[in-house]
Amino acid sequence: MTQPKIRAVRVRRAVVEDADAIERVRTDTWRDAYRGLMPDSLLDGLGYDATRRRASMAALPPDQFVLVAEDEDAVVGFCIGGRSHTPEERFRGEVYAIYVVPEQHGRGIGRALLQAAVNELVDRDLRSMIIWVLRENAPSRRFYERMGGAWIRDEERELVGVRVTESAYGWPDVSRSFGGSSGSVQRM
Ligand SMILES: CC(C)(COP(=O)(O)OP(=O)(O)OC[C@H]1O[C@@H](n2cnc3c(N)ncnc32)[C@H](O)[C@@H]1OP(=O)(O)O)[C@@H](O)C(=O)NCCC(=O)NCCS
Repeated sequence: MTQPKIRAVRVRRAVVEDADAIERVRTDTWRDAYRGLMPDSLLDGLGYDATRRRASMAALPPDQFVLVAEDEDAVVGFCIGGRSHTPEERFRGEVYAIYVVPEQHGRGIGRALLQAAVNELVDRDLRSMIIWVLRENAPSRRFYERMGGAWIRDEERELVGVRVTESAYGWPDVSRSFGGSSGSVQRM
C-alpha cells in the first residue's frame, strides 16, 4: 500500500517577498470556500495582484503580524492578526484572516497557524482573541469551535463591498485554550 508522503510544514513570520504567494492562497481559497456565500461575479473577478498586499506588509504596524505556513518551498497558508479592529471590543486581539489552500485542509496547518497567531498576540500582551467568520461558513465555524472558540454574536458587516452577516468567535483567555506552546515558529 502506498504510504502518504509526510512533509514538514513550518509556520514563520512573512516577509514582503511572500506577498504574491499570500495573494495566490487568498484568491484560490476564497474561490473555493466562499462559492455560494459571496457573489460569483466577485469571486470570478478576483486576481492575483499583490500590489496592495505588498504595500500593507511593508508598512505593517508593530501591533500586527503576518504569518505563512510553508510546505517544502511553497506557501500553503497564511494568517494575519493583531490588535482588535474594533477599539471598544472586549477581546483585545484579533485574527483578521486565516486561510489554508483547499487541497491541504485537514492536515493540522490551520491549527499550527492559529497557535502561532496566539503566540504573536501574547507577545503583544493581547491575551484575548476574536475572529469574525461568515455566518454561513459552516466548516470554518466548526474549526473555530474545535479550537476552543465560543460564539459571541452575529453582526451585519461589509466585506469587500458586500453586506454580509458575520459571526464572532471569542477566546477570553488564550493562555487557557492555547497554553503550553513554544514560540511562534512550529514544525509539524
Ligand atoms: C478553516 C481553516 C483555516 C482550517 O484549517 P485546516 O488546516 O483545514 O484545519 P486543521 O487541519 O488544522 O484542523 C484543526 C482541527 O480542527 C478540526 N476541523 C477543521 N475543519 C473542520 C471542519 N470543517 N469540521 C470539523 N472539524 C474541523 C480538525 O479535525 C482538527 O481537529 P483535531 O486536531 O482534533 O484533529 C481552513 O479549512 C481554511 O482555510 N478554510 C477556508 C478559508 C476560510 O474559511 N477561512 C476562515 C475565514 S474566517
